[in-house]
Amino acid sequence: MFDLNTMRLELSEAYDLSPNPELAEQMQDVYEKMSRVVNPVDWATYAPYVAAINALKKERNAVILAHNYMTPEIYHGVADVVGDSLQLAVKAVEVEADVIVQCGVHFMAETSKILNPSKTVLIPDMEAGCSLAESITADGIAQMRAKYPGAPVVSYVNTTAEVKAASDICCTSSNAAQIVAAMENDTVIMTPDQYLAQNVARDVPQKNVVWWEGSCIVHEQYTAQDLKDFREWNPGTSIIAHPECPPDVVDESDFSGSTSGIIKFVTDNRPEKAMLVTECSMASNIADALPDVDFVGPCNMCPFMKKITLEKILWSLHTMSEPVEVDPNVAQKAKVAVQRMIDLSQKLGI
Ligand code: 13P
Ligand code: SF4
Repeated sequence: MFDLNTMRLELSEAYDLSPNPELAEQMQDVYEKMSRVVNPVDWATYAPYVAAINALKKERNAVILAHNYMTPEIYHGVADVVGDSLQLAVKAVEVEADVIVQCGVHFMAETSKILNPSKTVLIPDMEAGCSLAESITADGIAQMRAKYPGAPVVSYVNTTAEVKAASDICCTSSNAAQIVAAMENDTVIMTPDQYLAQNVARDVPQKNVVWWEGSCIVHEQYTAQDLKDFREWNPGTSIIAHPECPPDVVDESDFSGSTSGIIKFVTDNRPEKAMLVTECSMASNIADALPDVDFVGPCNMCPFMKKITLEKILWSLHTMSEPVEVDPNVAQKAKVAVQRMIDLSQKLGI
């Protein structure tokens, strides 16, 4: 693990990173994508990092894959590809550059490495974990198989490579219901998100969905009462929830979908007021593209996603750290589960 002071000293010796209003002005086209949510003073502090990262990307022949939960200066300033978990996995297969910098959490970087093992995959902070990925091990999958013999295991991509390797197929929030519906058996094991599983169980009543008891620390905080109270306080708000929220929260919402599904819904429907029941950066990243939508209401931050910063991305490219490695035997088995998901999604037109 790096030492922040050493990192800052070394970076300041290698690059001019002091706030730079002139450079910020020159990069106005980038700033325009986030001017509703990032003030000009902050932009002047980000601009030197954005410029340095974009120059280093060329030097290293690197691409940045960034999840929709990254902050606006990452999402609009340095990312080459942005998307939800499924979109990032599909793009990871297609990367031709030598290096992938994964701006997201560790399981996403592992997925990129599994799908494209000849590439160097870097994550700017190894401690960017996920409460769901931490909730289950391969032993947990074995326990579920023993409890429900013969039932296929559908694991959320928010899992470690070992768990993927022990599963039959993966899913993401954008294809979970369709993947479960496509399984041949009546009983389907879903791990590790109990709430995603319960939401899928309702959408796919023909299956007996059983689940592991994991949860997302960001989405489990919302309650149905919060949404009811908010609607009463601010009538006319379109409420949109991620399916990692408990089912009664999803019931209180007007729409539920993956992070990209949420962006598409708001973009297509242009509600006057929208409350995104998910991670905070989602609304910030689309605020400028949708000036007619007023994003209202509380949001919760993912402490893991927020470990990724411009400073750490620059350090990552500067030092080529930290490379994500997956044991080749585990990677081979995990790839089968991830690739099955990608192939089935493409067949189903998702
Ligand atoms: P999406 O696949 O919807 O982007 O979700 C990933 C995630 O971690 C949400 O918490
Ligand atoms: Fe994991 Fe939840 Fe953070 Fe997504 S938001 S990375 S599911 S902890």
